[in-house]
Amino acid sequence: MNKLTLENVKNIFDNNDSFEYEYNSNSESDTKKLGNEFAKYIKKGDVITLNGELGSGKTVFLMGIASHFGIENDVCSPTFTIVNEYTTNMDYPIYHFDVYRLEDSDEFLEGVGTDYFYNGVCLIEWGDAVILDILPKNTIHIDIQKDDNNLNVRKFKIWRK
Ligand SMILES: Nc1ncnc2c1ncn2[C@@H]1O[C@H](COP(=O)(O)OP(=O)(O)OP(=O)(O)O)[C@@H](O)[C@H]1O
Ligand SMILES: [Mg+2]
Repeated sequence: MNKLTLENVKNIFDNNDSFEYEYNSNSESDTKKLGNEFAKYIKKGDVITLNGELGSGKTVFLMGIASHFGIENDVCSPTFTIVNEYTTNMDYPIYHFDVYRLEDSDEFLEGVGTDYFYNGVCLIEWGDAVILDILPKNTIHIDIQKDDNNLNVRKFKIWRK
C-alpha cells in the first residue's frame, strides 16, 4: 500500500483510477489537516464515504474539509435528518450525510435519492456499511481504524476500486 502524505493528496483527484493509500494520524489536528488538504481538490460530483466505528474521527475529518470553506463551526453529524447542506463559496454546496440510521440502500433511494451525488460534493458517514451497492464508481472510500494502544492514533485506508 502507498503512503499518503499531505503532499500527494492531489494524486487522488487527478483522475478516476483505482488506488489504495495508507495515512497515519497521530492527533485530531493531523486528521483535520488531511481533511483540509482534501478540500483543496474536491469538486462537484465527488463522493467520499467515511467509514469506521463510533468516535473513530469521521466527523473530525469532515471538519477539516469544512474549515477550508469557513464552515467548520456548523458541522455536526446530522442527527434528526439524514443530510445537512452547507453553503460554500463554490457554486455548489457540500452535502453531509450520516446514513447510520438507514436500513439499506432501498431506504436511501426512496427517502433521499441519488440526485445529490451529481449536484454538489457528498460526504457520507457510514456510507460503505449501508449504501455501498449504489455509490458511484468514482467514490473515494475512507476507512478509519482506532489503535488499541494509543487513544490519539488513527490508521486511515483511502481507496477507490
Ligand atoms: N487522530 C485522531 N483523529 C481524529 N479524532 C481523534 C484522533 N485522536 C483522538 N480523536 C478523538 O476522537 C473523537 C472522534 O470523534 P468523531 O465525532 O469525529 O467520530 P465519528 O467517527 O464521527 O463518530 P460517530 O460514528 O459517532 O459519528 C474526537 O473526540 C477526537 O477528539
Ligand atoms: Mg460522526
